[in-house]
Amino acid sequence: MSKLLSPLFTLLILSLSTTAASASSAYPSAYGDDSCTFSGDILKPVRREVYADGRIYDITHQIRPDMPTWESDEGLGQFLWLPLSMKNGSLANNSEMKLPTHTGTHVDAPGHVFDHYFDAGFDVDTLDLEVLNGPALLVDVPRDKNITAEVMESLHIPKGVRRVLFRTLNTDRGLMWKKEFDTSYVGFMKDGAQWLVHNTDIKLVGIDYLSVAAYDDLIPSHLVFLEGREIILVEGLKLDGVPAGIYDVHCLHPRLLGAEGSPIRCILMK
Ligand SMILES: *[C@@H]1O[C@H](CO)[C@@H](O)[C@H](O)[C@H]1NC(C)=O
Ligand SMILES: *[C@@H]1O[C@H](CO)[C@@H](O)[C@H](O)[C@H]1NC(C)=O
Ligand SMILES: *[C@@H]1O[C@H](CO)[C@@H](O)[C@H](O)[C@H]1NC(C)=O
Repeated sequence: MSKLLSPLFTLLILSLSTTAASASSAYPSAYGDDSCTFSGDILKPVRREVYADGRIYDITHQIRPDMPTWESDEGLGQFLWLPLSMKNGSLANNSEMKLPTHTGTHVDAPGHVFDHYFDAGFDVDTLDLEVLNGPALLVDVPRDKNITAEVMESLHIPKGVRRVLFRTLNTDRGLMWKKEFDTSYVGFMKDGAQWLVHNTDIKLVGIDYLSVAAYDDLIPSHLVFLEGREIILVEGLKLDGVPAGIYDVHCLHPRLLGAEGSPIRCILMK
């Protein structure tokens, strides 16, 4: 009996330690400097949220199977496959991916909610890199409301500020870390979007869940933002632990011809 149990026990320990390693890499806390460390004979990559002694914040979420999506309450699920692998004789590993374009940290183009803009070709490839890159303000919004005109007014964002990332209750609730899509997230109500368009110079609107628009005003708020084709929406930002204030934001996405949305990589630099 014990002869039979002991290899099983070893196996169990092995699989437990693999689980622990993958769990810690999904939620990294190490802010190490090396991209790779040796511990014994185990090669272990270090994943970082902050670089250059705190001057660079990665505000992009990792794309992971258990992240929330519009499409399902079960999370994103498998998005990566390895059809060619060194294990089955290939010279290199080559993976393939399949993703909804509005997955994780992503950008919306005007064609997302306007059929005639879509048909005319206003895809993510037409978005202005100057809007997506430059000085930006990270602000905290009141936690007890959606972003209404009244809330926008109370933020006193000065004229001339062109890029604002709005941190909300969504970050406190850790919504992007939960698999289930949560419709009670905080976003812009239609009057908040209108207030922003009419009273500020903001052209880049960033937010910390999968939509800038509150679920109850999903389409109306998007229409207000995207109608002028000047405002760019970046959604699903990872603003956890970043001090509010002024930064340089840098956002770049792949040039997906014909796509009305795309995953995007965003960083903040001090
Ligand atoms: C190669 O192996 C991977 C798993 O490593 C598998 O998913 C894939 O189907 C295999 N491809 C072929 C051509 O056998
Ligand atoms: C190639 O993929 C296999 C999985 O099939 C993995 O075990 C191996 O480490 C990969 N090789 C490299 C060089 O990444
Ligand atoms: C924001 O609006 C959503 C509906 O879109 C609602 O479920 C949620 O409770 C609101 N949040 C706050 C903080 O008022």
